[in-house]
Amino acid sequence: MATMTRTQLTVRPLLQADIRRARQVQRAAYGADTPGTPFERELRNGLAQYLAAVEVTPAGAPPALAVPPRQGSVMRLLHRLVATPDGTDVLLGYAGAWFTHDQLHIVTVAVDPHAQHHGVASALLLACYDLALEAGSRTIALEVRLSNERAQRLYTRFGFERTGRLRAYYSNNGEDAIVMVTPDLAAPAHRDHMAALRSELAAGG
Ligand SMILES: CC(C)(COP(=O)(O)OP(=O)(O)OC[C@H]1O[C@@H](n2cnc3c(N)ncnc32)[C@H](O)[C@@H]1OP(=O)(O)O)[C@@H](O)C(=O)NCCC(=O)NCCS
Repeated sequence: MATMTRTQLTVRPLLQADIRRARQVQRAAYGADTPGTPFERELRNGLAQYLAAVEVTPAGAPPALAVPPRQGSVMRLLHRLVATPDGTDVLLGYAGAWFTHDQLHIVTVAVDPHAQHHGVASALLLACYDLALEAGSRTIALEVRLSNERAQRLYTRFGFERTGRLRAYYSNNGEDAIVMVTPDLAAPAHRDHMAALRSELAAGG
């Protein structure tokens, strides 16, 4: 797959070596009571693709977004000020998707709360869109909690539309899921929409 770079943000396949950090991000983003993703099994699943959004900091430069979780504000400030001697590659978020015969199904998206609102999930969703195009998928689908209005807004920005509701879908609290699906990826209107969004994101929007 193509690697996508946006300022210091790069989206690449999630690796075995990323799993520990991905679990930290998962707990911080979803909360400790949400069932964890079985990352090891998913990386062995030939029908799944997991992506990592990493902040790549050149040698000698301070990281702009990556802040270790559970550090106080003074430590966070120090972390921002201290230049990294060798350069770093810090995982800020991840997305997982499964390929079905004509659909890409996004099963998870999570971003470290310290790095949210900087376009990390948008970069991951754009990379998922590229995966779907490469695989010849007709549409992309996902489920999202009824209460998760922020994620629903993000998906709407990517052209997803509400197509259904699954009662008591989430086992930890019995919450309903909203099913969201893109229009046909080959439809000219959707292609135009995604091309405009890609330019907007590349420009920092
Ligand atoms: C939902 C989630 C994945 C979004 O991640 P994110 O990296 O913050 O998302 P983005 O930054 O790409 O976009 C989210 C918002 O930031 C805004 N944004 C994006 N780039 C921005 C920038 N450069 N400057 C300011 N705002 C920006 C977007 O417009 C959007 O605004 P909105 O929330 O007001 O609609 C994240 O909040 C998360 O991990 N939540 C917990 C887990 C979860 O709910 N996952 C989804 C399950 S279906």
